[in-house]
Amino acid sequence: MNKTAQNEPSGNQSSPRITRREVLVAGGATLIGTTLLGSLFDTVQAQTMTGQDMKRRGITSKDGGMKPTFLPEQGSTDAVAFSVAENLFWNEQLMEHAKFFVMMMPGLELAAQRGQAEQFQNSFMSQLQKAQTASLDRSNYAAFNRSTVELVKPFVDFKRQMRDEQAAGKLKSLVWSTFFDHTAREAERFSKRLDQFSRGDTSTSLSEAADFWTQIMGEHADFIAHLLDPVENTLIQKAIQTSGAFKQMHSSSPASKNPLEKAVNDIIDFKTAAEKGINAGQIKSIIHPTLADHVRREALKAADELKRAA
Ligand SMILES: [Fe+2]
Ligand SMILES: [Fe+2]
Repeated sequence: MNKTAQNEPSGNQSSPRITRREVLVAGGATLIGTTLLGSLFDTVQAQTMTGQDMKRRGITSKDGGMKPTFLPEQGSTDAVAFSVAENLFWNEQLMEHAKFFVMMMPGLELAAQRGQAEQFQNSFMSQLQKAQTASLDRSNYAAFNRSTVELVKPFVDFKRQMRDEQAAGKLKSLVWSTFFDHTAREAERFSKRLDQFSRGDTSTSLSEAADFWTQIMGEHADFIAHLLDPVENTLIQKAIQTSGAFKQMHSSSPASKNPLEKAVNDIIDFKTAAEKGINAGQIKSIIHPTLADHVRREALKAADELKRAA
């Protein structure tokens, strides 16, 4: 994936002017420069895990935005490395799901639900920190995976309950029921993958990965379309078109993975460019920078799994 951002000096240079057309052509490569926020938001991982630490643990990271994306090294079949990478990746994502719920449950009337979301945010932050520092090996990685799965279960239940209440008009938050459902499916798949790795199986099924990720990528495009400022009509249309293409791929399993990999690479470029444009104030939206980076990292994860899938 694009490595330009890694080579850019970090700091406070003014961001490059980003035009809507550049985002539309999804020319991620030309837009991956220093972001306004990039150097300010280095993750805890980036600060605590050196490249050597990661190499020793059989994992790698990809840049291009606010936070790195942790993945098992290419060609690896090591269940410990897969587990460490999966825990680093998804505990961060689940912590952010909770953070989004906190942001989108305003006011006194939602204080109770917001408090629950805050507790989930803390519990996944703490599990993420454990994943960063624990010495995992063949003797203990399955137990660590189990401890994560136990944390994920009540969060999935919470998301499903909130989804149903929001859909029924009982919960009046700013979270779509679709967003609760989307994040519940991500959490469930995280658990399933950990269970699989705990059995020593690091394989990725193409049909399963394609089924999961086409739905997730299509929904991300829908979320982007609905969070852009209404004046961003051209970008909104582009996002809706992207969503339609993923829905199509979701309903008809493609004969080969090439078109799917191409669509995922395109959406990585689109999201990367959109994140830069949002951060630089060149694109009008209510997409929080953390959400923009969150969906970009999930697209990198999708590309990685599809590449490994057989
Ligand atoms: Fe997510
Ligand atoms: Fe997602």
